Amino acid sequence: MNIIAIAIAALLLPSAPLADAKPLCRPCSPKPPAFILAGDSTTAVQAPGGGGWGNGFLSFLRAPPAWGVNKGHNGATTVSFVKGGDWANVTRLIDEKNAEGFQVWVTVQFGHNDQKPDKNISLAQYTTNLITLTRSIHSHSAHPILLTPLTRRSFPTNSSHHATDTLHNERLATIAAARNTTGTTTLLDLNAASLTYVNRIGRDAAHAYDLKEGDSTHLNDWGSVVFGRMVADLLLETEAGKCLGPWIRPNATLSRAIRDGVPA
Ligand SMILES: *[C@@H]1O[C@H](CO)[C@@H](O)[C@H](O)[C@H]1NC(C)=O
Ligand SMILES: *[C@@H]1O[C@H](CO)[C@@H](O)[C@H](O)[C@H]1NC(C)=O
Ligand SMILES: *[C@@H]1O[C@H](CO)[C@@H](O)[C@H](O)[C@H]1NC(C)=O
Ligand SMILES: *[C@@H]1O[C@H](CO)[C@@H](O)[C@H](O)[C@H]1NC(C)=O
Ligand SMILES: *[C@@H]1O[C@H](CO)[C@@H](O)[C@H](O)[C@H]1NC(C)=O
Repeated sequence: MNIIAIAIAALLLPSAPLADAKPLCRPCSPKPPAFILAGDSTTAVQAPGGGGWGNGFLSFLRAPPAWGVNKGHNGATTVSFVKGGDWANVTRLIDEKNAEGFQVWVTVQFGHNDQKPDKNISLAQYTTNLITLTRSIHSHSAHPILLTPLTRRSFPTNSSHHATDTLHNERLATIAAARNTTGTTTLLDLNAASLTYVNRIGRDAAHAYDLKEGDSTHLNDWGSVVFGRMVADLLLETEAGKCLGPWIRPNATLSRAIRDGVPA
């Protein structure tokens, strides 16, 4: 073989196994996406004591052929989710869905419990844990999506348009984790988007999404749809998400309300 033939042969070689998880957009994968949502109660299914954006997000999938499952676990931290066996279930599911011919995406959103003093998880540890989960997803040939944590909708008594920014540090730590895994990880700044939105619509409109009166952390069914739409729109705006358009049903009315900062 001459040098040109060798070069061409190199181009034609099947790429390393992990490379499958890399070329996100060019060309778009013909495989339908499977979404596995990992996180705490602000991702989880609506139930007493928990309820997040997960099911609302999944409601926008054109499923089938797309597919999705909400693995949010009430009370979970980046530590307990691994220790308690949830993560092993997620990785097993990634392998199954890859084998079934899906392109697999895994969302990771924590922080609401990691920040509680009794959990004894430092911000540095939280960051490292997020990086570890992200690498684990990538090593199973799936696409990691890191989300900064959904804002709480609690407002100081003297201001109905400045919600208390209780997850500021966890947002920055999540961004740091995503930076550390640039090239493989898609970052969605849900914390900033949700905080901006609830500040624009104000306290009363924001509480309309509460799971129940007095619980301004968890979302009711409609809140799940609204913030699930927000997640879908954030994802579709990313480089990686450009290919997902055909698999995610639009709702222009809802997207516009979110973008314009009016109650949905
Ligand atoms: C993991 O999956 C198994 C089998 O479906 C299930 O019995 C178990 O409860 C799951 N573990 C967690 C922590 O969800
Ligand atoms: C908290 O975590 C640190 C670091 O892992 C450990 O040294 C310390 O003993 C823990 N404290 C408690 C009260 O568990
Ligand atoms: C609300 O009250 C707090 C504490 O009393 C004060 O620091 C803050 O400036 C007030 N905000 C507004 C918008 O009045
Ligand atoms: C980020 O990645 C580098 C290189 O892989 C590593 O040395 C560093 O410790 C990582 N930072 C964190 C916060 O884990
Ligand atoms: C879109 O969202 C609006 C609320 O903004 C809702 O009333 C409507 O049913 C949704 N349409 C579809 C097709 O989901």
